[in-house]
Amino acid sequence: MTPRPDSVRGATITGTGMYVPEGVLTNADLERMVDTSDEWIRERTGIRERRIAAPEQASSDLALIASQRALEAAGLGPEDVDTIIVATTTPDRILPSCACTLQRKLGASRAVAFDMFAACTGFVFGVAIARSLIASRGAETVLVVGVETLSRIVDYNDRNTCVLFGDGAGAVIMRPCAEGEGVLAIDIASDGELGSVLEVPAGISANPASVATVEAREHYIRMQGKKLFPFAVRTMEESARRCMQEAGIGPDEMDVVIPHQANLRIIEAVRERLGLPPEKVPINIDRYGNTSSASIPITIDELVRAGQLKPGDHVGFCAFGGGATWGAGILRWTMARRGPAEVPSAGARLAATGVRT
Ligand code: ACO
Repeated sequence: MTPRPDSVRGATITGTGMYVPEGVLTNADLERMVDTSDEWIRERTGIRERRIAAPEQASSDLALIASQRALEAAGLGPEDVDTIIVATTTPDRILPSCACTLQRKLGASRAVAFDMFAACTGFVFGVAIARSLIASRGAETVLVVGVETLSRIVDYNDRNTCVLFGDGAGAVIMRPCAEGEGVLAIDIASDGELGSVLEVPAGISANPASVATVEAREHYIRMQGKKLFPFAVRTMEESARRCMQEAGIGPDEMDVVIPHQANLRIIEAVRERLGLPPEKVPINIDRYGNTSSASIPITIDELVRAGQLKPGDHVGFCAFGGGATWGAGILRWTMARRGPAEVPSAGARLAATGVRT
């Protein structure tokens, strides 16, 4: 039974980790696969390359490494974790959940584990739930993971989508803290009316897998990119503003705002609307593409390991995604400043990725 809350307490991030696979898929590689060009991709999206999981790597494998790194950074072991929330659109399989598989691989036998299915906003939803669980004393140590192997549901015959997405994982450990520290505000929202702008048409109850669905390539992502663009800019700005209002912080008092890395032009539009200078809005879409629920925790970990976050900083994030879903959050940072960044290895090339052509 969950104990009754006797006093409100805060929730904060005490450890971060990330992992991206070694396989690199460059724009030049894509030029050989579909009718596209490096110039088009860079100008329209800001992406130069993305990481692709090796054939033997499932989402839980990427999540495992990011989680181990986050636990190590927090000075904790797997047995300390009581809750695992995995935000993903690409779990290993329908059953068991990705979170339960991660629990087994991590050896976090004490934890309750479940998946969070909110597309690219999944990590924000996960942080919101972790915060509520910690505040209500339903949890003490929550592992929140954003992980995707989107390369498994991307149609590498479709130039509209295949240039955008990449694989990766980011993880954070959340623990109780004093009220007024850690998560100051969080905002999450959905609009099911917009479901058709980003979908995978077949595979489960509405349209089970069959020879016909495979032949029609209905197990891959279909996207109405033009409709998503203005929706993304508007919702990320509005959600970030709601959080700033709730936290009583103006845009000029934000030290960092991490937008979901979906498209450089979307990021730039949000940054300009919020009146933020470029140095406050980190970008890694050029190296990883859109890693959906993983993009924010990956970026947080890169900032931490580069020593760019210090206690007291106001750190914001905002995202939008399929469903449609969107959301934002603001933390008063509590982790001590870290050392230099871990430089991701250059990695193997397309041949090692197992990408379907
Ligand atoms: N290479 C070359 N040409 C292309 C490519 C490509 N990879 N993709 C599309 N084109 C063509 C189109 O066919 C179109 O040609 P046409 O005019 O002859 O019909 C032309 O380029 C222009 O296409 P637009 O759709 O107008 O291009 P736009 O500038 O809108 O950019 C993009 C497309 C990048 C998809 C953009 O709309 C976008 O980023 N939208 C948001 C997408 C997004 O964020 N998705 C993820 C959301 S949720 C999540 O993160 C999982």
